[in-house]
Amino acid sequence: MKKINFAIISMCMILVSCNNSAEKRQAATEKIKAGITKTDWGSADGKAVYLFTLTNKNGDEVRVSNYGGTITSWTMPDKNGNKTSIVLGFDSLSGYLAKPPYFGATIGRYGNRIANGKFNLGNTEYTLAQNNGKNSLHGGLKGFDKVVWDASPLIDSIPSLTLHYLSKDGEEGFPGNLSVAVKFSLSDDDALTIEYNAETDKPTPVNLTNHSYFNLSGDVSNTILDETLMINAGHYTPVDTSLIPTGEIKSVKGSPFDFTAPEKIGARIGQVKGGYDHNFVLNRKDSLLDLEATLFDPMTGRKLEVYTTQPGIQFYSGNFLDGSIKTSSGKPINQHAALCLETQHFPDSPNEPLFPSTILGPGEKYHSITEYKVLVVGKKD
Ligand code: GLA
Repeated sequence: MKKINFAIISMCMILVSCNNSAEKRQAATEKIKAGITKTDWGSADGKAVYLFTLTNKNGDEVRVSNYGGTITSWTMPDKNGNKTSIVLGFDSLSGYLAKPPYFGATIGRYGNRIANGKFNLGNTEYTLAQNNGKNSLHGGLKGFDKVVWDASPLIDSIPSLTLHYLSKDGEEGFPGNLSVAVKFSLSDDDALTIEYNAETDKPTPVNLTNHSYFNLSGDVSNTILDETLMINAGHYTPVDTSLIPTGEIKSVKGSPFDFTAPEKIGARIGQVKGGYDHNFVLNRKDSLLDLEATLFDPMTGRKLEVYTTQPGIQFYSGNFLDGSIKTSSGKPINQHAALCLETQHFPDSPNEPLFPSTILGPGEKYHSITEYKVLVVGKKD
């Protein structure tokens, strides 16, 4: 039988929590085999919130909550065997209810900004919540990052969790009932795959992404400025002062936006006003799942590979982090303590006819895949 019933797995996990050390060792083994656990994590909007832990055969763990479709931690060893989380996140739901800037969250219905919170479809003008100055950001006041999703955990060949959300016609000003499914899977070679599917009953813009903040050192005391980034993008979309693309698709050549060969993030960040917060236009002409970015931390040997089917990556260097938010262990999360590589369509596409379209129509299927894979270079055995 390929699909193992989740309830049976949970029961097995309870049964293996025994006392003597042989049994404890066995419990650890069982846990790794079992692949996924579910913990009560409180409630929001009168709905139950859970924390799911996906564990692969190495014992590496990704935790995802159905609150906001949020990745709360991704724990794995570095080259010295030290296990730490490579993404920002909190130990409890209260951290997320305090509205941090989208830590690990699923973003929708529209990732990044829509200018003035307005766009036209046919002859109709739609008005969205303006939650970022005069612009709409990351789906509005209550985007997909702040709703409780329905969850279906599953173990097939690898552990996975599918979250479902029905975004109603008119929610945050967007037209059409949009049914969304996001599937998180963790493979035994430390690849976290996020697969997005959506369908609508009226034409609507859709741009889904994940807003994980990576710090490969696993410690927010280190900034990401010493990490090395490569993005397979010969062009980027310059922005105005409110971070809306000007419409230009500009070559990165000779500029601090050229990451076509691996570059230290801190090397040229001083030349970019406000830091990096730009959409990079990937060179790819197709939408196959390809390696489009890598991030490397020389200190811990951790290397992140980003594979995606999307046409763009928003590289955000954590510019607005200012130490006012603390980790669950009390460390301040300062500027550049982490970065985001948000695979997506370009910001403000509904108002930019020359950007790839983000409009999904009835009968069409939205589908995209992003895979974040971590390797450890120079591992000491
Ligand atoms: C995105 C945006 C940034 C910022 C962060 C959240 O990545 O591009 O400008 O709003 O989200 O703080």
